[in-house]
Amino acid sequence: MLTSSDEDIRIAADAIKAGRLAAFPTETVYGLGGDAFNGSALARIFEVKRRPRFDPLIIHIADASALDMVADVGKLSSPARKKLGALCQNLWPGPLTVVLPKQRSVPLLATSGLPSVAVRFPAHPVAQKLIRYSTGAVAAPSANPFGYLSPTNAIHVQEQLGSRIDFIIDGGRSSIGVESTVLDITEEPPCLLRPGGIPREVIEALIGHVDADIPPDSDPARRTPGQLPSHYAPRTPLFLHNTMPDISFNPDEVYLFFDEETLCLWNMRNVPHTGGHIFTLTSGRDKKSVDKNLEAAANLFDILHIIDKINASAIHVQKAPDSGLGTAINDRLTRAAAKRT
Ligand code: TXA
Ligand code: MG
Repeated sequence: MLTSSDEDIRIAADAIKAGRLAAFPTETVYGLGGDAFNGSALARIFEVKRRPRFDPLIIHIADASALDMVADVGKLSSPARKKLGALCQNLWPGPLTVVLPKQRSVPLLATSGLPSVAVRFPAHPVAQKLIRYSTGAVAAPSANPFGYLSPTNAIHVQEQLGSRIDFIIDGGRSSIGVESTVLDITEEPPCLLRPGGIPREVIEALIGHVDADIPPDSDPARRTPGQLPSHYAPRTPLFLHNTMPDISFNPDEVYLFFDEETLCLWNMRNVPHTGGHIFTLTSGRDKKSVDKNLEAAANLFDILHIIDKINASAIHVQKAPDSGLGTAINDRLTRAAAKRT
């Protein structure tokens, strides 16, 4: 495990330059990074994650001017170029990934053979340094085995992939806690492929309408494996509820409420207690918190990692309010619940 000192970041950066892999913090989740232009590093990313080759990687840059290294912006229509400008100017660096026409030099392995490439400029200072000190373009999926919960701290990475990667940089807890929003702007209107750290409302305020519901039978190039019905899943079966059902607590089960308020209401209904573990996604400490969804998103994967260690027979989860980051939270929970079927 490396610290986030400059010296340690350089050790990880040198490893990436030499074609090896290093896991690193970002503001969304931890990434598993390798040189975006090195075919064998890319192959190793797929191998370590046991990720199917049809699932393309996001390329991380640390400077908007590095965009041209990986994307051929000239191939965009002029309205799309304007939209890209507005997005980069307002939301980069940050949790937004943009799908663009690919630069020829980007290996097809990175994009799973697609003519497009996903690019993100993370806000986390450690991620930025790692990218700058290495090759300027780092391919990085979330640092978890394919289909499992994403890591939001270095221990999650250590536990899941520690024996299979060269270095992990510990940069503390990811502040946002859900992955970046993936937006394809090669389409008109642009298409939101994965809800994430930047809410749809914020994007639409900048560039107008975006399509968000991709029909399951659409062109495969528009589908993204984040869209697979089962993903982001704990090992324990997860059941998602609009409101928690009036069932008695089962001592073998875990109940994950959105906030203290609904937990209190639920208790007042005199539902018979027979035990069961109770968690909430928000602490209730910050009653005036403007957006509880922000706090819930930051806690989501960490709490699910903790719950998964209890070896309960089921996890019952209450949905988040469907606005802002709540959309991304409910998207991940819906896919986690789909694992049962
Ligand atoms: O927040 C994040 O985006 C994190 C951190 C590490 O940056 N990364 C991440 O990567 O979530 P990953 O590999 O777990 O998810 C990447 C998503 C997948 O759903 C993938 O299918 C989609 O981006 N994607 C990548 N390239 C694409 C492309 N050319 N067209 C459409 N979707 C693409
Ligand atoms: Mg992932």
